[in-house]
Amino acid sequence: MLSLDFYNPTRIILGKGRIAELDTHISQQARVLVLYGGGSVERNGTLDEVRQALGQRHVQYFSGIEPNPTFETLMQAVELIRRDQLDFLLAVGGGSVIDGSKFVAAAVNFAGDPWEILLNGGTNVTSALPLASVLTLPATGSEMNNGAVITRAASKTKLPMHSDYVFPQFSILDPSKTFSLPARQVANGVVDAFVHVIEQYLTLPSNSPLQDRFAEGLLQTLIEIGEQAVQESDNEEVRANLMWVASLALNGLIGAGVPQDWSTHLLGHELTALYGLDHAQTLAVVLPSMLHERRGAKREKLLQYAARVWQLEAGSEDERIDAAIERTRAFFEAVGVPTRLSAYQLDAACIDPTISQLEQNGMVALGEQGAITPAICRKVLHAAL
Ligand code: NZQ
Ligand code: ZN
Repeated sequence: MLSLDFYNPTRIILGKGRIAELDTHISQQARVLVLYGGGSVERNGTLDEVRQALGQRHVQYFSGIEPNPTFETLMQAVELIRRDQLDFLLAVGGGSVIDGSKFVAAAVNFAGDPWEILLNGGTNVTSALPLASVLTLPATGSEMNNGAVITRAASKTKLPMHSDYVFPQFSILDPSKTFSLPARQVANGVVDAFVHVIEQYLTLPSNSPLQDRFAEGLLQTLIEIGEQAVQESDNEEVRANLMWVASLALNGLIGAGVPQDWSTHLLGHELTALYGLDHAQTLAVVLPSMLHERRGAKREKLLQYAARVWQLEAGSEDERIDAAIERTRAFFEAVGVPTRLSAYQLDAACIDPTISQLEQNGMVALGEQGAITPAICRKVLHAAL
């Protein structure tokens, strides 16, 4: 590791009952827009606590941000904010609501068509409204990072953006607010956080021993608590730990100064956009096949992963690599996220459309070396059937 740049201004407030502290972190004069999704936060009491905590401030609400948030829906929030001169955004929900709110924050003052923000990956954002979040689903890390992924429903285009202007000022993580999550969403969260670490760790050796140890600690913690987090829907301690791991998995720390991959995510985005798989389901399908396909380029790190994360020391190098990939697949299956396309009723007919979308979106040189072509992605999908 020869140089790095780490910036993260987001304050994390984790613990049961801490939504009440919203009052001390938002100006009394703020004109607040609370953004949320399809109603889970109404049903589990989160929104009531938020409403109470905001007290006498001017507060309006925008609901209906869907999983894999769409540009079309979010632009309605942009219009509302412009019309009613709102000046502080509070996202209440999972990664989709937080991502959507980040895009809205950047789009409100954007000159020109806000879709250009996504076409430029966020590099053309020069300001954003202040925003904060109340997280109800540990998974994406969006509560502590500068990223968002937005889908244009009309063209089935799902694109990421990054901008330091959209870091949440603070995020409140109350583990008891995750008790209402369906097991499928908790399992998704475990897999998403796991793959976030892998995409920043399982690349090329870069003489970054501390980043490696951080990453291995996060992976081992997820392996330790993952199944319990899914099964014990009211275990506050386990859920608190899962929230903290998921935030640290993608807050910039373990990725600072090291090569990063992201091919599993970018290929997975096309499967979500075209076929509606949950984000983490796409990762569980793509990652084992991608690791198998890239075992040559990733050989040293795969061996380190096998030894340090899965304690695999016996057998030949190839046997250890195979075993580590199989353990990874088995872990995803054990938490409850199937790892084959067939489990999602997809067959070989999905491959051509997925690869052509990837090409259309310019995703033709993926991975830590830019060496993953659409042809390689095609092989990965075949192996994942
Ligand atoms: O819409 P509501 O009614 O709120 O229901 C949601 C939604 O149906 C529900 N849910 C959330 N909290 C709940 C709850 N149900 C019961 N109790 C609760 N406490 O869960 C469903 C899924 O929510 P969603 O926000 O879509 O899930 P997740 O947090 O996994 O976010 C996925 C999105 O984040 C993006 C993904 O691409 C996807 O669009 N990502 C964002 C990243 C980032 N900003 O850094 C990185 C990730 O790699 C990822 O790409
Ligand atoms: Zn992810």
